[in-house]
Amino acid sequence: MSRVALVTGGSRGIGAAISVALKAAGYSVAANYAGNDAAAEAFRAETGIPVHKWDVSDYEACVAGIGRVEADLGSVDVLVNNAGITRDTMFHKMTPDQWRAVIDTNLSGVFNMTHPVWPGMRNRNFGRVVNISSINGQKGQMGQVNYSAAKAGDLGFTKALAQEGAARGITVNAICPGYIGTEMVRAIPEKVLNERIIPQIPVGRLGEPEEIARIVVFLASDEAGFITGSTISANGGQFVV
Ligand code: CAA
Repeated sequence: MSRVALVTGGSRGIGAAISVALKAAGYSVAANYAGNDAAAEAFRAETGIPVHKWDVSDYEACVAGIGRVEADLGSVDVLVNNAGITRDTMFHKMTPDQWRAVIDTNLSGVFNMTHPVWPGMRNRNFGRVVNISSINGQKGQMGQVNYSAAKAGDLGFTKALAQEGAARGITVNAICPGYIGTEMVRAIPEKVLNERIIPQIPVGRLGEPEEIARIVVFLASDEAGFITGSTISANGGQFVV
């Protein structure tokens, strides 16, 4: 029987590419999404991947949503915490709501999704958790104090939980994408993107969602069992750690 993979924010952007790549690699995939019903339905129709709507910032909604996925496909073996939002603004203009929304989704969402699947992974002595962090969690980014803090938090989460999972065959890793050609990045003011960001990328272009998806497929595989607690950068050379 094929392993089950659940991808949060899995019907658009990087998450959609991850869902598709995992399906192509033989996994039974479910994609979670939060809001965009039309995009999720189009994704389901095009890929045949089931979509499930809930908000990862809500712990009880995650427990219920994961329950629906597991009733449908079986226990989750591979969890990809990809769901993320931005509320970019300079810190002096940032409201408490903009701070909270990003922390609740991008950091607490990772707890809310991982906590319910963790006991099952421990019992089965196998699991893969892949957290999609960001270059901006590594280097910090002006206009993104909330996002940078959440994404840096995801790296601490990854390193700590990896140590707990290691003896049970569970790996926990993070990927830090740079600027990838998705709606999130295209929402940056065009002038800022073209004049300030792309010139900072040595390969001279935005990344492709599939370039992140291929890393996820590798980290999910049996062959990657010795890799845990790692942070894998994929940023076109923009930030070298
Ligand atoms: N890198 C370098 N310089 C930047 C910058 C960036 N990422 N973002 C803004 N600046 C510069 C602008 O070019 C501008 O410089 P000048 O005054 O010399 O022209 C200055 O900062 C102020 O910018 P704005 O005029 O746009 O000021 P604003 O108050 O209207 O908006 C902002 C500020 C919200 C930060 C807006 O500039 C913005 O959205 N910038 C992009 C921030 C960013 O990089 N977000 C990443 C989103 S993608 C993502 O999050 C995915 C991921 O993981 C990588």
